[in-house]
Amino acid sequence: MPSSLTLGTPLIHFETVDSTNKAALRASSNGAAEGTLFVAETQTAGRGRQSRKWHSPPGLGLYFSVLLHPKTAALEANNLVLQSAVAVCNAIEELYDYPVGIKWPNDIYSENKKLGGILLETTITDNTIENAVIGIGLNMRHSVEDFPNELREKTTSLQIVTGKDCTNTLLLDRILSIFGNYYFKREKCGINEWIKRCVHMEKRIYINHNGVALRGSFHEVSSDLSFILKDDSGHKNKIEYGEISLDMEV
Ligand code: BTN
Repeated sequence: MPSSLTLGTPLIHFETVDSTNKAALRASSNGAAEGTLFVAETQTAGRGRQSRKWHSPPGLGLYFSVLLHPKTAALEANNLVLQSAVAVCNAIEELYDYPVGIKWPNDIYSENKKLGGILLETTITDNTIENAVIGIGLNMRHSVEDFPNELREKTTSLQIVTGKDCTNTLLLDRILSIFGNYYFKREKCGINEWIKRCVHMEKRIYINHNGVALRGSFHEVSSDLSFILKDDSGHKNKIEYGEISLDMEV
């Protein structure tokens, strides 16, 4: 059972850190409490999914990780991913009255561009999740010029899409509160909530799956976040991991 009923305390704040996820993993091996929050103004080695870097300039983004001790079966990791993605979307919509969506499995998307991402890292013993670190990076106050050239086409910020002043603390508090309610089961959030936020349900997508380029429609997502891609010959492919592109992008 979770040991506390709020997320976000204690708070460990860094002006600069290599990665808030790494800091949380280090702290977890020293016995840090469930709910401990790691926030950085900038990261020198921010990391993303599939060993990518997470661009983390000072003053522009929200970079944080929260440490959990779920003590649940390893399969439950998918719930943490889908619930954190839904929490981010709901928090943004509540605060800015602006709908954003999810691109499989957990990219935060708006206007066909990436607004943020989530990296879950776990330590698992005997099929039980001992530590789970949920790291969230959101582009808050970037203008287009603040992104490196190679990211400009595919990336956006909350300020660009909403045209509003976007402050880190308000959004952070709201995300933790919503996600905390899901995590401690005061509110239910399952695959149906994720599907409502998905920006490409039944739409054409592309994926390089084990070296094979597949195009088709995205549907039938399961609670483990695997999905069925129905390709142009009608064949159904079960996809469990990888990186999809919305077909309009390729
Ligand atoms: C992705 O979309 O690839 C996931 C990006 C996750 C980035 C966040 S920023 C805070 C936390 N610390 C990290 O090093 N990564 C996550």
